[in-house]
Amino acid sequence: MINFGIIGTNFITKQFIAAAENTGRMRLTAVYSRTQAKAQAFASAYRYVTATHDDLADFFADDSFSTVYIASPNSLHFDQACQAITAGKNVILEKPATTSPAQMQVILDLLQAHPQVHFFEAARHIHEPNFKVVQEQVAKFDQIQGANLTYEKYSSKFDSYLAGNNPNVFTLEFAGGALQDLGVYLVYEAVALFGMPQASTYAAQKLESGVDGKGTAILDYGDFKVVLNMGKMNNSYLPGEIYAGKQTLILANNAADMEKISLVDAQGQVHVLANNRPNNPMTAEINDFVDVLENPTASVNQQKEQAWLQLAVQVNRVMYDLRQSAQIEFPTDNK
Ligand SMILES: NC(=O)c1ccc[n+]([C@@H]2O[C@H](COP(=O)([O-])OP(=O)(O)OC[C@H]3O[C@@H](n4cnc5c(N)ncnc54)[C@H](OP(=O)(O)O)[C@@H]3O)[C@@H](O)[C@H]2O)c1
Repeated sequence: MINFGIIGTNFITKQFIAAAENTGRMRLTAVYSRTQAKAQAFASAYRYVTATHDDLADFFADDSFSTVYIASPNSLHFDQACQAITAGKNVILEKPATTSPAQMQVILDLLQAHPQVHFFEAARHIHEPNFKVVQEQVAKFDQIQGANLTYEKYSSKFDSYLAGNNPNVFTLEFAGGALQDLGVYLVYEAVALFGMPQASTYAAQKLESGVDGKGTAILDYGDFKVVLNMGKMNNSYLPGEIYAGKQTLILANNAADMEKISLVDAQGQVHVLANNRPNNPMTAEINDFVDVLENPTASVNQQKEQAWLQLAVQVNRVMYDLRQSAQIEFPTDNK
């Protein structure tokens, strides 16, 4: 049983805990929040919690847990992950893990100094069975002509932004915006399927706050291009498409949720390769991470962990390049 603590008390943390406890392999024992009152109110729903904290140093000194799930605003990920690794805690860090290659390098250096610590970026969708179906099909294609991947959802916080409030996800201060929040799913998918692009550019539609409300990125793979459409101020119902000559792979309902995967063959016949929606989309990543935590020395697990880390580093690089190309600067960039 992997005992874990959490940072961040929003809906996504509840979803993570539900998935974790449903696997029967993880148990929440410690809660951090900025206030004790909130930590205690949150913890009251979970029967194995032994301590609540409003101080991060105290939280990381709590030996009731070995692993922390961090779901704080993006700009806080880096400092919190560094503290966790230094304290010897395994880290499951929400996407995007950090906002620059410089930060990522610090994390890699810390991991080298703490070889017993395991670090995972919680890019849930690349662990899902349907993504493996996509990977297998792409590997069968002789050639790729390109892909169009879209993830655009009207944010539950956009009305609040329009009303003059500053929800974290629409601020530069908290490293928000469409690319960081939703585009990261598409970048992950592109890099996992096609590798590192030779060049990448992002045309961003910026809001007054300075973040990108939506935008289109082009990843240039030389022989082909991958177009990524991301947005938090409108809804798109476009599925993702991957082109291979006369064949097309369709990722519906969108490229990030991938509930239905279909292959349209050269004759126009549609073959459904997968059609299922997980009850909780975080279950697959949790099982993958716990496999490693339970048996970290098995070579198959070491290889997987290494591959996920390398992918996280590559995605971080592409995300940074895209952001630079759109001249979106975060206050933490010069820290
Ligand atoms: N994997 C997924 O499907 C998925 C879905 C949604 C979000 N996410 C990721 O999860 C992370 C959190 O997203 P979110 O929308 O939940 O963020 P959020 O609501 O802005 O903040 C998350 C938590 O951080 C703490 N927090 C809020 N504002 C803070 C501030 N100013 N200073 C310090 N702490 C603050 C709060 O916890 P306390 O009040 O308890 O301190 C809050 O519950 C992001 O990295 C996001 O990308 C992932």
